[in-house]
Formats: sequence, structure tokens, C-alpha cells
Amino acid sequence: MGLSRQYLRYVPAALFGLLGSAGGNAAMVALGGERGRGVAVAACEHVFVWDLRKGEKVLILKGLKQEARYLCPSPDGLHLAVGYEDGSIRIFSLLNGEANVTFNGHKAAVTAMQYDQLGGRLVSGSKDTDVIVWDVINESGLYRLKGHKDAVTQVLFLKEKNLLVTSGKDTLVKWWDLDTQHCFKTLVGHRTEVWGMALISEEKRLITGTADSELRVWDISYIQEEVKDPDEPESKKSKGSSPVAEKDTEEDETLELDESPEERLLKCSKVGSIMREGRDRVVTLATDRTGKILACHGTDSVLEVFSILSQEEVQKKLEKKMKKAKKKAKKKSEEEEPEGDVELSLQEEIQRVTNIKASAKIKSFDMILSPKGELKVVLLLQNNIIESYLLNLSAQVPQAVRASKISIGGHRSDVRTLAFSSDNIAILSASAESVKIWNRSTLQCIRTMDCEYALCSFFVPGDRQVIVGTKTGKLQLYDLASGSLMETINAHDGAVWSIALSPDQRGFVTGGADKCVKFWEFELVKDESSVQKRLSMKQVRILQLDEDVLCVRYSPNQKLLAVSLLDCTVKIFYTDTLKFFLSLYGHKLPVLCMDISYDGTLIATGSADRNVKIWGLDFGDCHRSLFAHDDSVMYLQFVAKSHLFFTAGKDGKIKQWDADKFEHIQTLEGHHQEVWCLALSPNGDYVVSASHDKSLRLWERTREPLVLEEEREMQREAEYEESVAKEDQPVVAGETQGETGLAGKKTIETIKAVRLRGSASNASCLIDLPKNRGVTGAGHEFKEEKSVLLCNCSNSGADL
Ligand SMILES: *[C@@H]1O[C@H](CO)[C@@H](O)[C@H](O)[C@H]1NC(C)=O
Ligand SMILES: *[C@@H]1O[C@H](CO)[C@@H](O)[C@H](O)[C@H]1NC(C)=O
Ligand SMILES: *[C@@H]1O[C@H](CO)[C@@H](O)[C@H](O)[C@H]1NC(C)=O
Ligand SMILES: *[C@@H]1O[C@H](CO)[C@@H](O)[C@H](O)[C@H]1NC(C)=O
Repeated sequence: MGLSRQYLRYVPAALFGLLGSAGGNAAMVALGGERGRGVAVAACEHVFVWDLRKGEKVLILKGLKQEARYLCPSPDGLHLAVGYEDGSIRIFSLLNGEANVTFNGHKAAVTAMQYDQLGGRLVSGSKDTDVIVWDVINESGLYRLKGHKDAVTQVLFLKEKNLLVTSGKDTLVKWWDLDTQHCFKTLVGHRTEVWGMALISEEKRLITGTADSELRVWDISYIQEEVKDPDEPESKKSKGSSPVAEKDTEEDETLELDESPEERLLKCSKVGSIMREGRDRVVTLATDRTGKILACHGTDSVLEVFSILSQEEVQKKLEKKMKKAKKKAKKKSEEEEPEGDVELSLQEEIQRVTNIKASAKIKSFDMILSPKGELKVVLLLQNNIIESYLLNLSAQVPQAVRASKISIGGHRSDVRTLAFSSDNIAILSASAESVKIWNRSTLQCIRTMDCEYALCSFFVPGDRQVIVGTKTGKLQLYDLASGSLMETINAHDGAVWSIALSPDQRGFVTGGADKCVKFWEFELVKDESSVQKRLSMKQVRILQLDEDVLCVRYSPNQKLLAVSLLDCTVKIFYTDTLKFFLSLYGHKLPVLCMDISYDGTLIATGSADRNVKIWGLDFGDCHRSLFAHDDSVMYLQFVAKSHLFFTAGKDGKIKQWDADKFEHIQTLEGHHQEVWCLALSPNGDYVVSASHDKSLRLWERTREPLVLEEEREMQREAEYEESVAKEDQPVVAGETQGETGLAGKKTIETIKAVRLRGSASNASCLIDLPKNRGVTGAGHEFKEEKSVLLCNCSNSGADL
């Protein structure tokens, strides 16, 4: 005593099990000079680039803490702009995976980005409602455009003009003149959120997708300022040319607000709509890079593909129609001159090609059209799958063929149980649909086996088989060499919440929602069909209780069995007689996890009440109660041959504790959502954890000593930094006097300062916002996210 104990630091070693996060988009990139061979997807804080042909991860663009939200490749294909949850943007080189440009200007998640045609400027839209135009060459901010009242959903530069068009959840589409940084026009015709938007037909048309099945098509006619003659028709399709006539024929749907009518640059009026088959909201709407193909999808698994006639093709079609009409007219009567009112319907101009049905709900897509007329589509699915399809557009009836699917390296649903093999080299993870075995050193998935909804698991001694306990009350036994399910036993009338190998390794114990603890022994049986005996298990004893059993653990000498019950107590029984020994009272909510130290002196319990309690196993006295996590403690395990233990929390954190000194040693931060479970390697060198963010993370023990005082100091600094970052809102162009202002969050790491130009009157739209909306906005978003989390949990809710 007196001497401070030496702790060793655990550090992140790898993120695996995640192919692509559903919180981000997919973007096709070139690989080895081949266009569209790679796809970049967000993967928690990182971005992964997958080779679609080989199904291999070829590049990791390493992030910091924040989740990647939006990806946008540069026009030359050499860079990828990545927007993050905190509003920062980093530009990575796709050649070496390094980022040396960081833009800090947004206060909330980046939701949309686009490069201009030459790649010199980047525009970003955010949940904070702002749009910012960045100078990529000079690595600085150009201007902040304020006007949207809700998250920005799409931002598009025009190629020919120095204009920008943006859409938002506030139902608005806004046109910005980048010469003056003015919003000169707002389309208010949408009754619901505008979720997607694309410029088509050589920027003569705008198409928008909202919460309904209608894709609204808007005609854009550019007004030449030199042209004084108001009678000059701008376009065939616009019906009236004088503003008065136009207003009269307009329904209120196509109302446009001209904020400064004297300098209108264009007219934008609704000309019709294309109906989607999807009935839900549009999630993504986009064209390919040539603008010939338009595609969109909703919250289901169908991508609807349309082809768009070019102006030239429209002209040709019109001429053909005109000829036909003339012929018809001639037949009818020789005298009558056919009128020039031949029109091409929108449906003829924007033709439905086909639907691509993916294997699960689509989250995002990207596509590329080859000069030969073959469309390559890549889909990021909601359930951790990436699929690509080929569509031959020259075929009579174009039909999509699936070209590749990347899915083996991850689960379709949340991993609810993890286990380490006794030799520390294999890891088991199991979810609602499969059990996977991973090679710890390569993190390759070496086996995938179908299972029922798994809740608990372990490697059978010898590491040749694994057993999984399921939500449906079954025990499933798998043989790893053959990768096959050997046996399924109905073990409990209700979920098998917990399983524990007996220290003598001859059997195991299970606890279930049917208020039973069951004791099992391994046995060798001979199937009729085979000569060789195989492993099986038989139930030998049962312990009936008054409450659901949530967790079971043996003491290392196997004399005692600890059983956690739904009534918030933990009861200890003698294993041999099943007589009651003692009860651990104190938790206010049920104990979800517990473990007994190697020497059998301590039992640590983790509860839904967010506390961890450390008890003596001799008398059941509580040594200490520690406030452990900001949400339920989901898993707890001692490090072998020590009184140190790890806990995993629904707050997304993993913490290490000292059960003798009641000290919090370190926090392993990385997961973005609830951590469901963890497993320690038997030698204590590795921790593996699984989260609702779909990632599995491996943590490694280093030789680096950890000094508690220094750790605390670092923690305080990090907290301070976070609070500073929260208070210190990026300076908005125009809020500062003068021409230049620094924009960007203060961080202790030095990040390239970003200069913003522009003045207040220029940079803001006429529709202004209350002064303090930034603050309330942020609070609202936080609540929104929270409720999403709650929904997600109840969906995947195997927890209580
Ligand atoms: C990063 O900086 C180096 C030199 O400082 C430069 O050569 C390189 O092109 C930059 N990379 C990117 C992605 O901008
Ligand atoms: C970058 O800065 C230089 C000099 O300050 C300026 O001449 C140039 O136009 C800027 N580039 C862009 C893309 O704005
Ligand atoms: C596409 O379809 C056309 C017409 O059926 C056919 O000639 C062509 O070979 C097809 N291309 C590919 C790549 O399959
Ligand atoms: C894991 O990969 C390493 C390196 O390729 C290999 O030596 C080892 O045998 C593999 N282990 C298992 C369990 O597959």
C-alpha cells in the first residue's frame, strides 16, 4: 500500500465488422485509373474505400472522433471531401489517404456538399441551416449564406452561371447569386420538406423530391439583363412572358417569391411532375455526372431509374412529331395549316427506365454512365451491405444485373454477444441472424453461420465448437471446422439471457426469462448416420426461482453460483446443494451483468441503474458503489488474475476500474452509440466490443504505464475543450466588422484558420432569423437525436 499501482493503457487497435454506416452516403471513386471501380462510404468516424470488383477494403481515410456524414469526390477524382457530425470538413487525397485541409465553419452535421465544375470551390450545407462556399485552392471560406430555416438537404452549383441553388427541410428552394452573395429567389411551392434536387436538361430544368410521390419539375429560364424587350420569349415551355400574365395562370403551388425583383436573374416555374412509384419520402435524388440518368429512392429497397432526353433529342423528337402531325392534318383537310402546338410531355422527356430492387432498404446510391451506355449503380444499404448493379441502357428492356455484393465482413443487425477463444486468437460475434468467427490478428471473418437471435455465447473448451443462447430460448451448437449447426435444443421457455462455462469445464449453466437456471453437461453422442461421436449437451439439474434470471456466474472454485434476478437482487447459491447462501441488495434497477474475481473474493455487479457495486463474496457486504455510466451498464468482466475490470455502457463508453481502490482507471472512447457487450481475451491483452453503431472494436493493452493523475488531467482538458468548442460558435461572415473574420472552432490542436469574406447585408438572405437561434437550434437537434436513439433501441431491443 501507499505505492500507487501500475496500470497499463489500452488503446484502439482496430474497427471491424462495419462495411458502411447508414448515417452517410456512398460515393463512387476511381481505383487504379478505372472509373467507378471503387466506392467510398462512411464507416463511423472513418471513410472506407472498397474495391467493388474484389470486395476488398483498399483505403481507410482516418477520421478523428466525429462520425463522417457526407462524402463528395472532387471532379478530378483525386480528392474526397468528407463532412462530419460536428460540422467540420476535411479534404483527403485519394492517392495517399491523407487530409491536410480542414474547414471549420458549421455548427452541426454537414448534410450536403458539392464541388464546382473545376473543383476550385466547394459548397457545403448543414443541419445548422447555413450554406458555406469554400475556396479549395486557397483553403479558406468565401461566404456563408444564411436563409434556410431548417437543415439544408442539397446544394448545387450551376455550371454556366455563378449561381447556386439549395434546398432545405424548411420546404424551400433558394437561388443564390454568388457575385453578390444574395438569395434572389425562393421557391415556396413545396408543402413538405424538399429532400432532394437535381438540375437536368442542360440546367434548363430543376427537379425536386419531397415527402410525397411527386417529383416536381421546374422550368428555368435565364433572363439576359441586356435584353430589354420583355416580349422576347425565353423558352418554348414558358407560357406567358410578361410577369402579370404568368401570375394569373399560376396556381399557388408554383408561387415564387422574388426578393429583389429588380435584379431577377431567372424565372423558375413549375411545369409538371413525374410520379414516383415509391409512396414514402424521397431519401436521395440525383443524376449521374453526364446528366442523362436520374434516379431516386425512398425509405424502401427500390431505386427508380429514369433517362432524360437532351435538348437535342427533345428537338429531334419534336420535329418527328411535327411531321407526323402534318401528315395527319393533310389527310384530314388539305387547307388547314397544322398549328405549332406539338408538345413533348414530361413523361416523354423524362422516361422511366426500370426499377432496381436491392436486397434491403437503400440508404444511398451513386452511379456512373459509361460511354458505351452501361450504367453502373452502387447502393449502400441500411443493413451494412454494399451492392452494385449493371444496367445496359441500349438493351430493348433494360434490366439491372447485380454485379457485386459486399456483406461477409459484417452483421446485418446489432451484435449482442461476443466471446474470445481460450487461446486468445479467435473472436465470436453473434447477432439476430448470424454467428461469425473472426481471426483476431487479421480481423478476417473466417466463418459465418446462420443462427436465431443470439443473446449469449461461449467457446466450448478446445475451441472447436461454440454454443449460442437465443432470444427464443434455444441453445445452438456449432462446429467450427465444418461451419455447421450441429444441434439446436429448446432450453428455456423464454430468452436465454445468460450462459457461463463451469470452471471444471465439464458443462455450463444458463439463466432465462422463464425464471429457471439450468445446469448442462457436455456429452459425446453418436448419430445414426455417422460413425464418429460428436459433442452434445444434456440438462442435469434445474434451479427454479421467483423472478426472471438475467445473469449467471460461477465462482472460480465452482462452489458458488451467482444469479441476478429481475427484482434487482443478486442471489448466491451453493452449487452442490443449490441451497441459498446470500443475497446482494442495493441496486435500484436489475443487475444486467456481473463477474467474480479470479480469487473468488469479489463480485462486481453492473446495473440498469447506471451504478457498479463491488461486494465481498464472503459476507455479501457492499464495499463500494460507483456511478459508472450515463446509462445502463450492459457488460462487466474482470481482467484475468487481477482485481481490475471493464464495464460497457449504453452511453457508448467502455471503462476500466480498480475494484480494490474503487478507482476509475480509463475510458475507452470510440463507439458512437450504445455498447451492447464486450469480451476480454483470457490473457487480458485484448478487449473487443460491439455497439449499435454496427462497429466491432478491438482494443489492445500496451506497455505504456497509465498514471491516474495524468489521466484525470487529460480528461479535464478534454472536457474543457469540449465546452469551449460548444460556446465558441464559428464567426459568421458579416457578424464581424470589416472584410475578414476568422471562422472556425477553437480546438487545442491547431487547425488551419479559415477566412471568411463578405459583409452582413450581402451574405444573408432577406428572410432573417432570430438572433439567438443557433443556440436553441442546437438544443433541438440534440433532442431529436436522442429520440432517434430511443427508437433504435426499442427496435433492436433485446435489452430489458
Ligand atoms: C498536403 O500538403 C502537401 C505539402 O504541404 C502538398 O504537397 C499536398 O499536395 C497536400 N495534399 C493535399 C491533399 O492537399
Ligand atoms: C486565391 O488567392 C489569390 C490571391 O490572394 C487570388 O488571386 C485567387 O483568385 C484566389 N483563388 C480563388 C479560387 O479564389
Ligand atoms: C447492351 O445491349 C445491346 C443491345 O441488346 C447489345 O448489343 C450490347 O452488347 C449490350 N451491352 C452489354 C455490355 O451487354
Ligand atoms: C489468423 O491469421 C494468421 C495470419 O494470417 C494465421 O497465422 C492464423 O493461423 C489465423 N488464425 C486462425 C484462427 O485462423
